[in-house]
Formats: sequence, C-alpha cells, structure tokens
Amino acid sequence: MKLIAKLSGVGKEYQIGDQTIVALQPVDLEIRAGELLLIIGPSGSGKTTLLSLLGCVIYPSYGQLWVKDQMVNNLNQKELAALRLNTIGFVFQSFNLIAPLNALDNVMMPLQLKKIPRAKARQKALDALELVGMLDRKNNLPKQLSGGQQQRVAIARALVTDPELVLCDEPTASLDANSIATVMQELVNLSKQGKAVCVVTHDPRLLQYADRIIEVDAGRATEISKKDLSQKLALH
Ligand SMILES: Nc1ncnc2c1ncn2[C@@H]1O[C@H](COP(=O)(O)OP(=O)(O)OP(=O)(O)O)[C@@H](O)[C@H]1O
Ligand SMILES: [Mg+2]
Repeated sequence: MKLIAKLSGVGKEYQIGDQTIVALQPVDLEIRAGELLLIIGPSGSGKTTLLSLLGCVIYPSYGQLWVKDQMVNNLNQKELAALRLNTIGFVFQSFNLIAPLNALDNVMMPLQLKKIPRAKARQKALDALELVGMLDRKNNLPKQLSGGQQQRVAIARALVTDPELVLCDEPTASLDANSIATVMQELVNLSKQGKAVCVVTHDPRLLQYADRIIEVDAGRATEISKKDLSQKLALH
C-alpha cells in the first residue's frame, strides 16, 4: 500500500534552561495507507510527541520526516498549515474545540478554511456529526457538552475533510465502552477504505483493533507484535 509518512531518525528534544529533555529518541517508521497503527505507552513516554511530529504540529529536532511526498523539515509554517489542512485530520488530546462556536460550526471550520461552499460544508459537517452520534447536539457550545461529547465533536472535525492521514490522541479516553467500540470501529473502517490511521492510547483494550503496534517507553518507540505485547501486559 501507498506510503503516507516516513520517519528516518526522527526525534524531538526540548531545551528548558540548561536542561535538555529528550521527548522522543530517534526513530525510523513507515506508515502506509490501509493500516491502523496503535501507539501505546505510559504517561510522559513520548506518544503525543510522536503523533505531533506525524501531524506536522511540531518540527523534528533531528532526522528527516516525509508526509506523502513532502519533506516536512523543509516546509515553512504556511506550507505546513496547508499540508495539515489538506492531508491530515488530528484529534487532539485536549480536543481543542473553539469555545465560542457551536458543534456544527466547529466541524465546519476546516471546510471553510478549504473554501468549500457553505451549503456543501454544512451538509458534510452534519454527516460527520451523525457518524459520531452528535447530530442532536449540533447547536451546543463546547462548554454545554460533556468531555466524551466534546471528544466526539473533535473526531467529527478531524474526519470531515476526508484526510488521508488520521491521527487521534487518546480518542477514547473520555468515552464509555459503547462509544469506544463505535469510534474504534469507525477508525477501522477508515483504514479499510485506504486511510492511514494512528491512534495513541494507554488502553490495552484497543489492541484488538490494531494492524500494527508501536510501543513507546521513556522516549523510545519500537514496533512490537500484538502477541508479544499481550504477553508482556499479562505479566504485569
Ligand atoms: N513543549 C514541551 N516542552 C518541554 N517538554 C515537553 C514539551 N512537550 C512534551 N515535553 C516532555 O516530553 C515528554 C513526552 O511528552 P508527551 O506529551 O509526548 O508524553 P505522552 O506519552 O503523550 O504522555 P501522556 O500519556 O501523559 O499524554 C514528557 O517528559 C514531557 O514533559
Ligand atoms: Mg499525550
């Protein structure tokens, strides 16, 4: 299947005063269309950092990163924003919904940035809200929604542009078992339709949905088989 993203020795460090924090050690990774990649590991291990690099939200400190055929290291902020808008759907750990906009307007936002005509944008946004079971709350502001409902609106916003690369940071953290199954099944469907989907989680129950697994521990990201990870988790 088509290569969507490629990391070659990509890592990230932060400088705070005279302290250097290595958030992610150099990693090689290829992500292809048609697969659901699970990124799993404890708090502070570097999962969001890895996802943010893939999502072109932060620049790598070292290594080379390609998303589709673009070398991300060489892009300026404007080019990066265009790449994000056209290729990537990102569900942030903190949702990042726009407070004064209702659910529908939040989901329509990326389509308006893409200059899609308003009527068409509205219909696509309504479809996306329906997919996550939030159609009846379309006129609500984020503060009028529960955490799990905000999370579902954020998922609708990430999917509404039909992105080739779907990145979700703990998309099920605030959801109950039923909503988890719905959301994960939808992400599996997207991967089957030919998208590349990456999901960050702490939750081993999501293993069943994964085609591939990256385990992140103390800034080190390594691929692990489902079987090996299940055995490892059973030992703890
Ligand atoms: N902007 C930043 N400045 C300084 N340090 C940072 C920054 N972002 C992340 N870090 C550090 O990098 C490390 C990895 O952080 P990251 O957010 O990737 O972890 P995580 O695995 O997503 O954790 P969680 O499961 O709690 O969300 C942490 O030690 C964190 O403090
Ligand atoms: Mg995180």
